[in-house]
Amino acid sequence: MKSFPNQFLWGVSTSSYQIEGAIHSGGRGESIWDRFSSLPGRIADGSSGEMACDHYHNWEEDLGLIQEMGAGAYRFSTAWPRIQPLGSGRFNTEGLQFYSRLVDGLLSRGIEPWLCLNHWDLPQALQEKGGWTNRDTAMRFVEYGWKVLEVLGDRVKHVIPHNEPNVLSILGHGIGIHAPGLQDASACFASAHHLNLSHGLVSRELKICQSDLQLGPVVSLQPVIEQDRDQNASERLDALWNKMFLDPVFFGTYPEILEEELKPWIHEGDSEILQFKPDFFGLNHYTVMRAQSSGKSALGVRIMETPAGLPVTDSGWEIRPEAMLEQLLEFRERYGDVPIYITENGCSSPDQSDASGEVQDPLRTQYLRDYLAAGLEAMEQGVDLRGWFFWSLLDNFEWAEGYTKRFGLIYVDYETQQRIPKDSYRFVQKLIQENTLPD
Ligand code: FCB
Repeated sequence: MKSFPNQFLWGVSTSSYQIEGAIHSGGRGESIWDRFSSLPGRIADGSSGEMACDHYHNWEEDLGLIQEMGAGAYRFSTAWPRIQPLGSGRFNTEGLQFYSRLVDGLLSRGIEPWLCLNHWDLPQALQEKGGWTNRDTAMRFVEYGWKVLEVLGDRVKHVIPHNEPNVLSILGHGIGIHAPGLQDASACFASAHHLNLSHGLVSRELKICQSDLQLGPVVSLQPVIEQDRDQNASERLDALWNKMFLDPVFFGTYPEILEEELKPWIHEGDSEILQFKPDFFGLNHYTVMRAQSSGKSALGVRIMETPAGLPVTDSGWEIRPEAMLEQLLEFRERYGDVPIYITENGCSSPDQSDASGEVQDPLRTQYLRDYLAAGLEAMEQGVDLRGWFFWSLLDNFEWAEGYTKRFGLIYVDYETQQRIPKDSYRFVQKLIQENTLPD
């Protein structure tokens, strides 16, 4: 089978801090990524999201490019510090108006908005009070969510509370390579529990406000392979990365091997809050992981580099499309039949514009082709896959890698802010038009 079902939803994903720029404009407050990027040595090229794709000013052009691609949905995130600069108290009308215009712009072009409330850019003012390690942040998050829905809820029907809470908690609080840059096991577990708690709280509250809302978690799942090398480390990494954020949603529990470490943060009655039947699950998937025990890591485990000789993307992530099939089947086995959307999939490649101003990115096209084929295979095996969002619309600020890694279907010349659709953009355009994997 090479054709996708008729109703299959094609989309493209971005996130606020990675594309918006304009960090000092429109009344936006400081985010933890502004602060983290300003620290020496944290970002590969010493950059920040200060300018990024200046999407805050170029959003109409960007929406035009989504429309031309033929995508039926756009997944974006609202920046909490743009909407509520201090993370509590006053809301910023200018910020809310920006997203309101964006949503209108999407709808008028026939594109469904899929809104994510937290793609990691927490207001710095809340970090000063402990950020996600503070239980109170979960309540602040609910208030922010209420406001966003009050303003956009008449037009937005799909909401994702958190993008990859696992990455935020593990890389941001345990390993320290993302904001807020902590290397502390307790901070990792505290933030994990509070993110999970806030997911349950906000999901319930938003459903009360708007019963037709479609809500679901988005987690990056990556199979831990070659477990024989270090069984304990593999089980631990799998529990931390793949289970600590979905077991609570589906079962109201945590993986047994992590219970002791999470216990200090759990209050009576939390289990009922954690469990929430989602309308869909959003899978972000890129690669696989190999685990190794490590005394030097606060979490006792390290994610190994891809061994030499294997096919990798420009980020060094192993290209292994069969892992996506495996992941989809494993998810269904553990959590049951839930409508699934691929909410992120894509790869970095060292793209450049050539003499004629074109950008050829054969590695990306091949990567997408192979991963899409794995998705088709999963559907043949009965997985309820409903749609696919490519990461990403534009080259953008790739967190600790700065601008050194390009993930876009569209090339961005950061000097001029010129957008150049890459060959992969045309591949996706054809794919959407024909709803079939092109030859
Ligand atoms: C995911 C993030 C996204 C982007 C891609 C490459 O983990 O959600 O923001 O950085 O990886």
